[in-house]
Amino acid sequence: MILVTGGAGFIGGNFVLDWLSVPSNEGVINLDKLTYAGNLATLASLKDDPHHIFVHGDIGDKELVAKLLKEHQPRAIVNFAAESHVDRSIHGSAEFVNTNIVGTFNLLECAREYWNELDGSAKKVFRFHHVSTDEVYGSLSATDSAFTETNSYEPNSPYSASKAASDHLVRAWFHTYGFPVVTTNCSNNYGPYHFPEKLIPLAILNALNGKPLPIYGDGQQIRDWLYVGDHCSAIREVLDKGKLGETYNIGGWNEKANIDVVKTICAILDELKPLADGKSYVDQITYVKDRPGHDRRYAIDASKLERELGWRPFETFDTGIRKTVKWYLDNPVWIEGVVSGSYRDWLSKQYN
Ligand SMILES: NC(=O)c1ccc[n+]([C@@H]2O[C@H](COP(=O)([O-])OP(=O)(O)OC[C@H]3O[C@@H](n4cnc5c(N)ncnc54)[C@H](O)[C@@H]3O)[C@@H](O)[C@H]2O)c1
Repeated sequence: MILVTGGAGFIGGNFVLDWLSVPSNEGVINLDKLTYAGNLATLASLKDDPHHIFVHGDIGDKELVAKLLKEHQPRAIVNFAAESHVDRSIHGSAEFVNTNIVGTFNLLECAREYWNELDGSAKKVFRFHHVSTDEVYGSLSATDSAFTETNSYEPNSPYSASKAASDHLVRAWFHTYGFPVVTTNCSNNYGPYHFPEKLIPLAILNALNGKPLPIYGDGQQIRDWLYVGDHCSAIREVLDKGKLGETYNIGGWNEKANIDVVKTICAILDELKPLADGKSYVDQITYVKDRPGHDRRYAIDASKLERELGWRPFETFDTGIRKTVKWYLDNPVWIEGVVSGSYRDWLSKQYN
């Protein structure tokens, strides 16, 4: 087995689905607290799959985590569980500290105790993979070089500060205890099953519903965009071949300004779902007051991952964004569940 935390969220959910689509892969214990961002509808296709064990719980619950480790003896932990939305961290940072810092600490401690008790090859192959973000590196100017793994940490939001703290804990557990960890720091993900509070799904859904497409400030904030399926394949690669104690940047080599991302989405929708009055979705773009402390540019240099493990993203931004828009057009039931809030009933419906 492998233990995945936060596997009902956007990236964790995609990771679990991709992982279990390969019959030779181990089963998954999926530990998720089901915050507003956890959505079991994403995992609906696994309802009767004996290789998927869903556990509703908190990574901060030491007793539960210790019990799961003892019972299932996983050979790896992949930690996606986090509070992940910058805007939410500005309005309420406590949960970010609780889950991202204290929760990661608890998980590390339980995992270390479990690992200490392993012997022989089980101890040798075990690893703890921590999933983190490029936001820990801070913000770049237009001419700065992209972030490499040796950039110093300069987080600017409560979210990125809490992720930076968790990365430091993971690093320290390797250097202090010899605990076998790998960390990946990736850029902005997009793709299927993305909760519509983030830029890309929000833009698609607001466009389709005739609502304004809100753009912060001048819309010139630059992000590197990584298709979620590529992120999952990079994690599998690092889990498999990454060097213990190392960190690897994962990026899509796709730097785009927010306004250009939204205009691209509008152009694809104009083509795939033209408005009856012949107008363009671009007309719905509305500029709103910028977010405080809004980082100007993130860019990730993922060449270490390519050089050392031979990984490159499969999707370009054009192919990935087209797939994503099509996915949202083809999956109205999942979207309706999120928009109406009925996705929160999935636990009782599916898992009693
Ligand atoms: N989305 C991105 O673009 C992006 C980019 C870089 C890094 N990351 C990192 O990737 C990871 C996953 O991100 P995401 O976008 O899928 O996030 P998400 O918010 O969609 O999902 C997070 C999941 O974690 C669960 N969770 C929250 N607190 C928990 C707790 N205490 N115990 C157990 N489960 C808990 C939630 O219920 C949810 O299912 C996060 O660590 C995030 O920092 C995300």
